[in-house]
Amino acid sequence: MGLVNTKEMFKKAYAGGYAIGAFNVNNMEIVQGITEACKELNSPVILQVSSGARKYANHVYLMKLVEAAVQETGLPIALHLDHGDSFELCKNCIDGGFTSVMIDGSHLDYEANVELTKQVVDYAHKYNITVEGELGRLAGIEDDVNVSDEDSSYTDPNQVQDFVKRTGVDSLAIAIGTSHGAYKFKKGQKPQLRFDILEKVSELLPEFPIVLHGASSVIPEFVETINKYGGKLQDAKGVPETMLRKAATMAVCKINVDSDLRLAMTAAIRKYMALNPSHFDPRQYLAPARDAIKDMVKHKIQNVMGCAGKA
Ligand code: G3H
Ligand code: 13P
Ligand code: ZN
Repeated sequence: MGLVNTKEMFKKAYAGGYAIGAFNVNNMEIVQGITEACKELNSPVILQVSSGARKYANHVYLMKLVEAAVQETGLPIALHLDHGDSFELCKNCIDGGFTSVMIDGSHLDYEANVELTKQVVDYAHKYNITVEGELGRLAGIEDDVNVSDEDSSYTDPNQVQDFVKRTGVDSLAIAIGTSHGAYKFKKGQKPQLRFDILEKVSELLPEFPIVLHGASSVIPEFVETINKYGGKLQDAKGVPETMLRKAATMAVCKINVDSDLRLAMTAAIRKYMALNPSHFDPRQYLAPARDAIKDMVKHKIQNVMGCAGKA
């Protein structure tokens, strides 16, 4: 199978009570680690590229890496733009071979979000490209944008039907308490997700795929390894995997994970460097980093997404 959009994946995921993992990619080792894990578990996958990743690695390089992964694995893989912030960026990605885009108008007022999202949908659907929109604002850091807790807001279920109807989006990211990055809950704060909002949204949008951003669990083992080998990550905290698993059995069909990959990769590299101070061949420390990504993705597929064997 070649690159696919998310339509079929989400239809099956909704019906099967599981979610597709959407993992952020920036370089070859990350693409390889993720897709080797998916191949071993026969899992569909979404590889997503942020505008920062696209600036870092270059559109064509990322495109070719993902094409290589499709060829190597034969899996259904969607190549998705993560947090597109303008029509031009979405159009460039669509014209350049992506099969899915997110237009994130969540920072705009409601009517402007509707207008921008609809403009992207109208263009994307001409080419059979699926579009993810967002309502509500997640706290945390993406690229250089830092949304403070005060500026974040839960999705208002009263807006979702109107938004989906007027924009024609294929999936909707909602804010129910997750946030981007490795510091999702304050020290002493109990992790909580607003499952009541998710339930209300899914009643109002039957069989409609919902997306969770900011869904890394910030697994303590990796934070501890990083700190043990010279890192300084204090009070890092993520969303418990049991909560994400529950969301995946509900209307959530796409779960975004980036920070957990970054932590796993960084822990592997820090450890390798500390234990092998005389080594300087990048392959020596990038190989364990790639293995760490692979193990993390297998863990997510089995314990969070539930999408093993669904390719
Ligand atoms: O939601 C954001 C993703 O983690 C991508 O992060 O913009 O730093 O590449 P980035
Ligand atoms: P995390 O920072 O929790 O991994 O979230 C990633 C994300 O939502 C990418 O869009
Ligand atoms: Zn996100």
